[in-house]
Amino acid sequence: MELRDLIQIAQFSQSMTQKQNKINELLDLENKVILITGALGQVGTALVNTFLDLGSVVIATDINKSGEINIENENHDYFKLDVNKPAEVRKVLDDIFAKYKKIDVLINNAGVNTFKHSRDRTEEDLDFVIGVNLKGTFFCIQSYAAILEENNLKGSVINTASHYGTISPDFRIYTDCDRRNSEIYGATKAGIIQMTKYFAVELADKGVRVNSVSPGGIFNPDQPQGDDFISNYSNRTPLGRMAEVHEIMGAYIYLASDTSTYTTGQNIIVDGGMSAW
Ligand SMILES: NC(=O)c1ccc[n+]([C@@H]2O[C@H](COP(=O)([O-])OP(=O)(O)OC[C@H]3O[C@@H](n4cnc5c(N)ncnc54)[C@H](O)[C@@H]3O)[C@@H](O)[C@H]2O)c1
Repeated sequence: MELRDLIQIAQFSQSMTQKQNKINELLDLENKVILITGALGQVGTALVNTFLDLGSVVIATDINKSGEINIENENHDYFKLDVNKPAEVRKVLDDIFAKYKKIDVLINNAGVNTFKHSRDRTEEDLDFVIGVNLKGTFFCIQSYAAILEENNLKGSVINTASHYGTISPDFRIYTDCDRRNSEIYGATKAGIIQMTKYFAVELADKGVRVNSVSPGGIFNPDQPQGDDFISNYSNRTPLGRMAEVHEIMGAYIYLASDTSTYTTGQNIIVDGGMSAW
């Protein structure tokens, strides 16, 4: 190999390292304390693993008492937290803050649905979905904002909404099941998108950014949706398939990182284009 070739290889490798360093700097989530609600579900588990892989300290919370997180990476902690209990939310967030001295990012991910037909909806169904999705998101933001303000810290909130907070389901996709996405789920997710804008404005001068991610339908390999449903849903989606859960993570990484320091009040829809049709 001639000297000229060696110099070219060295220059190429230096430019690759510079690019990598720049990307690492922009997406540096190392040692950031990330609090995740509803962390034991499908999306929550993916969030826990994603942020652990990126070197963050992950505080997983869920309503379930047995918060066994079966992963080797020890950079995580677990707290039982029912987001619909305001006093518990404040206490748990205080405990987390006392232990870790900061909470860089709050991911409001806990969410529930009800699948009965609207004609059979009860007041209890409505209270259940509103309680977790809307009130739970509110209580967590309220306590998080208070703790940040009391300690003169900046932060970032990422709310998990849904593409069904922006569009209605197409009922023709439910040919093999009656698990219809409910009107109250969509209404609470639309509420979360609006609450995101409200708090983005209210907390802007405190240095707290507030955004939301709206996933589309995610394939669940542990509890697969029916074949007809998957096929109907896929036909109704420009990208022709349901999401794999890892495909939703990029939006959270972007919003948690310094790549998004000028982004607030936004809703990032990751739905394979369904809402564009
Ligand atoms: N899976 C999808 O296709 C999809 C699509 C769009 C949006 N989402 C949203 O993503 C989020 C996560 O959904 P998922 O698919 O992982 O659901 P999931 O049911 O697998 O997980 C939800 C988690 O929230 C927890 N939870 C329920 N009530 C709670 C409460 N009161 N306090 C704290 N935690 C509570 C549950 O224990 C569970 O671990 C939800 O907000 C959901 O609406 C999911």
